[in-house]
Amino acid sequence: MRKKVVAGNWKCNTTVAEGVELAKAVNELVAKEGAEDVVVVLGTPFTHITSVVDAVDNGRIGVASQNCAAEPKGAFTGEVSAAMVKSTGAGYVILGHSERREYYGETSETLNKKLALALENGLTPIYCCGEALEIREAGTQKEFVINQLEETIFQLSVEDFKKIVIAYEPIWAIGTGKTATTGQAQEMHKDIRDAIAAKFGAEVADETSILYGGSCNARNASDLFSNPDVDGGLIGGASLKAPDFLAIINAY
Ligand code: PGA
Repeated sequence: MRKKVVAGNWKCNTTVAEGVELAKAVNELVAKEGAEDVVVVLGTPFTHITSVVDAVDNGRIGVASQNCAAEPKGAFTGEVSAAMVKSTGAGYVILGHSERREYYGETSETLNKKLALALENGLTPIYCCGEALEIREAGTQKEFVINQLEETIFQLSVEDFKKIVIAYEPIWAIGTGKTATTGQAQEMHKDIRDAIAAKFGAEVADETSILYGGSCNARNASDLFSNPDVDGGLIGGASLKAPDFLAIINAY
């Protein structure tokens, strides 16, 4: 059975003290009331990871960085390598978020280097894909998203591909309050799963967790998660409030 995953993406929000407070609040709520079959991950800024790892029950809550360097180490001022992320105790790394593709010029080529380093260092990549509004309006979203996968994670060996969690995030829905309809989410998730089946076989496709992201919140999560091919969410704004995040974890 593929895993249900709810991952928070805090983006560039919270000081370390605020982040630790948020992590502790999530930890407490999840321990008391969180759905046991849902994998919970907190995607924190690099500066917070060690403190958040120390603040939560590591058997219950995973921690992710939101990026890693495309080089293993060396003279790359300001970069944080996959090995460094791993050494904090984090188990996951969010890669290919549309904000990084758009504002920091991340290409498939860069992402392939980051994916390889994340996997070599034993991190689970949460790999993001998704189309901009113009592409959705032109009706070419399926081709666009599958191409993003073909250029990156479909190049991996089947053993490595099995370690990936995918997050489909339509860019027009991120932070806009405009969520994909359950039909739009299900359709794309099914297209992604079919493409995985064609590339790696039906069994692998069936085991791959595909999360939805983009204005997913405590009100709309249960509708979105009721789709057979939606296996959870990558949550931005709503992950910054512990009760809202818990409601999403419990939305199945
Ligand atoms: P949002 O962000 O939930 O604030 O729309 C989701 C994301 O970008 O991962």
